[in-house]
Amino acid sequence: MRTLFFLLLFSFNLELFHGYSTIEYEEHSLSSDECCKTSNLPALYVFGDSLIECGNNKHLPKAGRVDFLPYGIDFNRIPTGRVTNGKTVVDFIALKLGLPFAPAYLTLLEFQRRKISTGISYASAGSGILPDIGGARVGACLSFDDQMDLFQSTVENDLSKQFKQQRELNEHLSNSLFFISFGVNDYSNYVKHLNDTKCHRSPEDFAEFLLNKFGTRLKRLYNLGARKFLVNNVAAIGCIPGFIKRWKYQFGNCVDSVNHIVNLYNERLPGYLQNLQSQYPETTFMHMEFFKFFLDININPQKYGITNTTNACCVLGEDLGCIPNEAPCEDRDKHLYFDINHPSQVANYLFVKQYLSDSMICKLSNVTGLW
Ligand SMILES: *[C@@H]1O[C@H](CO)[C@@H](O)[C@H](O)[C@H]1NC(C)=O
Ligand SMILES: *[C@@H]1O[C@H](CO)[C@@H](O)[C@H](O)[C@H]1NC(C)=O
Ligand SMILES: *[C@@H]1O[C@H](CO)[C@@H](O)[C@H](O)[C@H]1NC(C)=O
Repeated sequence: MRTLFFLLLFSFNLELFHGYSTIEYEEHSLSSDECCKTSNLPALYVFGDSLIECGNNKHLPKAGRVDFLPYGIDFNRIPTGRVTNGKTVVDFIALKLGLPFAPAYLTLLEFQRRKISTGISYASAGSGILPDIGGARVGACLSFDDQMDLFQSTVENDLSKQFKQQRELNEHLSNSLFFISFGVNDYSNYVKHLNDTKCHRSPEDFAEFLLNKFGTRLKRLYNLGARKFLVNNVAAIGCIPGFIKRWKYQFGNCVDSVNHIVNLYNERLPGYLQNLQSQYPETTFMHMEFFKFFLDININPQKYGITNTTNACCVLGEDLGCIPNEAPCEDRDKHLYFDINHPSQVANYLFVKQYLSDSMICKLSNVTGLW
């Protein structure tokens, strides 16, 4: 089986796939201004869903697979488990901070985990803030809670071996950046059940409910030592072709009513984070506007050099998944979506380039000696 996999990889490297990149996805094009040319952030710890997954689900037997080409075709043609053709949002953040890509926790062996002090990703496709939605319920993904359990193990069993003094460990954690991106799957699940009689929560109530669940979890990270939080808001899921299709809305347009429901959460998020920051004086909470970016790129694709916002770039099977080992579209930098639910590398790049400002990084990097 393993031999076959390598053989396949090898043969596809030779011929089947081609395409081009019109954009220079290198570090220098993302680099910050003088203030923090070298950021002081020692590590990037990552929690989230398929937008930033990088291989954890490969190790979960019940998870849907994306570890086949054409996923990863622009990641040196290696299907790592990233749910896109190339780098994720988190990869571009790491480049911008001058950090290595955070490896997926479940791909690491014990001796590797004990050596890493530049960050780890616990992200898992299909996961949400709520522990009992879709994939998490059947063990097909790591919920936010599961991801934090693994992080707790990192702190207690692995980082504690590198930072022998509690003070050193605290300092490492308080200086590290915690990137958190959830909510799409919680909202996908909510919208799916919106017309069920058993769905009692109004959209306003659900936004409040979800935000409070989120806050409880951020407090757990705080108690584990996290101080610098970069929080992504929820994408305009009313624009995602796969969702629109599944919900049987008219294909090809954004569904405003769904985006409106998601936005009830997003509108409350910055104030909520500000409030947390004032409750926990040593913390910094920064907020990233994925919703606005995602909506704008869907509505005004030409502004971003994108020409196709309606179709997946990979070839879809009957289940709307990418057919393994089928060559995808060649003009991947012109496609907003790589598969039917997930942005292509170019969208991830543009988001980080435009929405993670240098001043945000400066603010996050500003080490003032918290301990
Ligand atoms: C819910 O009901 C409304 C009004 O009948 C309808 O327009 C909408 O498409 C339904 N949504 C879903 C997800 O079925
Ligand atoms: C979008 O891309 C798909 C797949 O590559 C293609 O079939 C479709 O014609 C494209 N649509 C537009 C508007 O370019
Ligand atoms: C860093 O923090 C100090 C103290 O809070 C502040 O005076 C300074 O302006 C900050 N620098 C930057 C670049 O944010």
